[in-house]
Amino acid sequence: VLVGGMGAGKSTVGALVARARGATFADADAEIERRTGAPIAELFARDGEPAFRARERDVARDLVLAPDAGVVALGGGAVLDPATRELLAAHATVVWLDLDPAAAWTRVAAEPGLRPLARDESAFRALLDGRAAVYAAVADVLVDAASAPVAVAAAVAGTPLVRTGIVARLPELVGDRRAALVADAAVAGRVPGDYAVRLDVAGGETAKSVDGVRTLWEALAAAELERRDVVVAAGGGTVTDAAGFAAATFRRGLAWIAVPSTLVGQVDAAIGGKTAINVAAKNDVGAFHLPEAVLCDPALLATLPAREWAAGFAEAYKTALLAGGRLHDLVSGWVPGPGDEGSRTELVRRCAALKVRVVAADPDDRGVRAVLNLGHTIGHGVEAAAGYGGLLHGEAVAVGLAAALWLSVEICGLDGSVLAAAEADLARHGLPVRAAGLDADAVSSAMRGDKKRSGGRPRLVLLEAVGRPVFGVDPGDALLRRAVERALTA
Ligand SMILES: NC(=O)c1ccc[n+]([C@@H]2O[C@H](COP(=O)([O-])OP(=O)(O)OC[C@H]3O[C@@H](n4cnc5c(N)ncnc54)[C@H](O)[C@@H]3O)[C@@H](O)[C@H]2O)c1
Ligand SMILES: [Zn+2]
Repeated sequence: VLVGGMGAGKSTVGALVARARGATFADADAEIERRTGAPIAELFARDGEPAFRARERDVARDLVLAPDAGVVALGGGAVLDPATRELLAAHATVVWLDLDPAAAWTRVAAEPGLRPLARDESAFRALLDGRAAVYAAVADVLVDAASAPVAVAAAVAGTPLVRTGIVARLPELVGDRRAALVADAAVAGRVPGDYAVRLDVAGGETAKSVDGVRTLWEALAAAELERRDVVVAAGGGTVTDAAGFAAATFRRGLAWIAVPSTLVGQVDAAIGGKTAINVAAKNDVGAFHLPEAVLCDPALLATLPAREWAAGFAEAYKTALLAGGRLHDLVSGWVPGPGDEGSRTELVRRCAALKVRVVAADPDDRGVRAVLNLGHTIGHGVEAAAGYGGLLHGEAVAVGLAAALWLSVEICGLDGSVLAAAEADLARHGLPVRAAGLDADAVSSAMRGDKKRSGGRPRLVLLEAVGRPVFGVDPGDALLRRAVERALTA
């Protein structure tokens, strides 16, 4: 069920999603007009809003509970009705098509007269602002609706379900298939369902080894899992990377469901279908294998150690620099630590939405997906020079972000206040923004080994402004060296 404000594109996107899935599509407004023989604007004017909402509630129920129900688009105000909200909670996966109010007004103003509640801009914006909290409360998924409808439709398919308690949906998603659970010991007890085999693994890079996946393959073989069965992977990025890779390769590919349990996992590692283990280098053996569902339960994050939370926050901060807007406001004001469940849910949803949007635009990782490497070129150099185990990945990314923003000020015209604010914000979360004591030559040579290169030269992602990344930038040896030296100065 698609919900969201006027102008978000629910009808157009809904029809595309339905076609891609071979499902039926129903539009509640169109159904109301069909049943009454009158346009929505006329019904509103004639009968008043309460009568319209009552009619809308009946139509929503009929459409959602129809035996052949597939994709349903609801009118912007339908979720104001408590009975409709209960209906959705019990019977639907709810996708919130979120559009910036200014962009929504531009779209709506282009078709005057069709929308009874869209007559002047300030009232329209106030209406959308008021409804945002309601959409947030009913949604399982937030999808950024700013792109073209085809891109938004692709993003809907790849978006994780983010909601407190969403792990309870696992048994329903597994259905009558046989399933193997591969779970980090930290969360294994919180994952419901009946499994043909349960494997508790210790989180950390050892899970992503040849021996680690051999154990998984052998267990899948012993449990006699078949192509139609499913692997459930619950844990941090190391567990979803390793179990996803085992699923990708066992019997040439089993379906899998990811239940990320770290902030890194929920905002990054479990999204986008990259799976990998480490053989001669990190992530050097892997496969693209999209999970059929990603369930992000913000409640699982409550037990995350503070240092792991902060490392994930560095990735969220990176995402916010790329996205700008509401996500950037959210991370800028974030009080260190996991926060309340509502804010945490919004943080995960908005970060996941950005990653999904970028991945949908470049599924094979040949172009724009590179922007996700903001802070990662110098960050990887620092991480490698510190020795794996010295700094957490997210901590090295914090150092790399500060360096990338400094370069952005030098060559892309980024406002210096963005750099200053980012360094202060990251430090507030206990993250390093410098890695004093490391050797600049070691960092530079590790960067030369980085795989995100072109023609033998490092290519960086930089920012012109918050929300405006540029990728493929070669800053030249001298400037790059200065950025590295600055990153290593106390
Ligand atoms: N596939 C991708 O696109 C992608 C993207 C980013 C990162 N990654 C990979 O992700 C890995 C890092 O992921 P990570 O940071 O989640 O590391 P991790 O899996 O090692 O988890 C970090 C620690 O948290 C523990 N833990 C997990 N969930 C917990 C919970 N709910 N409560 C308490 N403790 C918990 C784990 O046991 C571990 O000790 C790296 O290997 C990286 O390469 C992959
Ligand atoms: Zn990263």
